[in-house]
Amino acid sequence: MTTPTIELKPSAHPLSDAEREAILASPGFGRHFTDHMVTIKWTEGRGWHDGQLVPYAPIPLDPATTVLHYAQEIFEGLKAYRQPDGSVATFRPDQNALRFQRSARRLAMPELPVETFVEACDALVRQDKAWVPAHGGEESLYLRPFMIATEVGLGVKPANEYLFLVIASPAGAYFPGGVKPVSIWVSEDRVRAVPGGMGDAKTGGNYAASLLAQAEAAAKGCDQVCYLDAVEHQWVEELGGMNLYFVYGNKIVTPTLTGSILEGVTRDSLLSVARDLGYEAEEGRVSVDQWQRDSENGSLTEVFACGTAAVITPVGTVKRAGAEWKQGGGEPGEVTLRLRQALLDIQRGTAEDKHGWMHPL
Ligand code: COI
Repeated sequence: MTTPTIELKPSAHPLSDAEREAILASPGFGRHFTDHMVTIKWTEGRGWHDGQLVPYAPIPLDPATTVLHYAQEIFEGLKAYRQPDGSVATFRPDQNALRFQRSARRLAMPELPVETFVEACDALVRQDKAWVPAHGGEESLYLRPFMIATEVGLGVKPANEYLFLVIASPAGAYFPGGVKPVSIWVSEDRVRAVPGGMGDAKTGGNYAASLLAQAEAAAKGCDQVCYLDAVEHQWVEELGGMNLYFVYGNKIVTPTLTGSILEGVTRDSLLSVARDLGYEAEEGRVSVDQWQRDSENGSLTEVFACGTAAVITPVGTVKRAGAEWKQGGGEPGEVTLRLRQALLDIQRGTAEDKHGWMHPL
């Protein structure tokens, strides 16, 4: 694999300090973008080339560009955090780089070398460092690396040209309510992914497929939809944009990776963070019936969702066809909040990074 260098072409018109500060005061999620972006091309026979860090701008695409028709696209999400000394560090970018390679393989796309992925993120954060929110709050700089097929033509085949980009967006809480518990609709008919499909790849198609069920969840008054397995329609998989954890007293359990669940970096990190705090942490199968029964008999004490964007968000209410229950009285649980704080402390540089997860710039 070739590893291109990234040439800097800085913006002649970055936003003013005052404009940037106004955005950082209330960034929301994914609404504002920094002054620059990274682009790297891949061409068959030539490999990766023309790495550039350029002003953030629209990308011209021919209407027959294959990604617009056949959705050959993958993406990642990771965050940069302001540290107590004013420096900036990203969280486990190598894990996102490796997952990006796995997604690329599944979508028949070229694999970007891990070091190029990490260097592209580093280069953008270094250039737009002023966009990383202040230390200590809920805010961070969300990085969105992605790759699209750019060959022009309507033939259904792996493209012979691709464009990799990294853009960055200052981010506050993903859910407008912050750590306020969210409500979940368990969809027992619509599925997110099937065995042998691409549920474990981070590709836009999975998110497009989730929108109708998400809209149905909203119509039931819920914030998020939870998917079950596509064969037996009973085993809990994930929320579509987030993984799930079940808390049984001192034990936390997350659904075992089946090939149709996205392998979340936050999900993986929490298995270690929980063990560090003295909890038992394991992967296992949880059925929706067990979820309801154990909530009703009180053995399932808390449930939370986790992901890069959502960090850790407590689940307060669960609805399924014919039933509704409160999780842990509808309030954020103690274990949920403790894990959340422990993870954020590592990411914000106020706790020891004993697993070597932080990547300083
Ligand atoms: C993330 O947590 O980074 C996600 O990808 C979830 C969503 C914003 C797509």
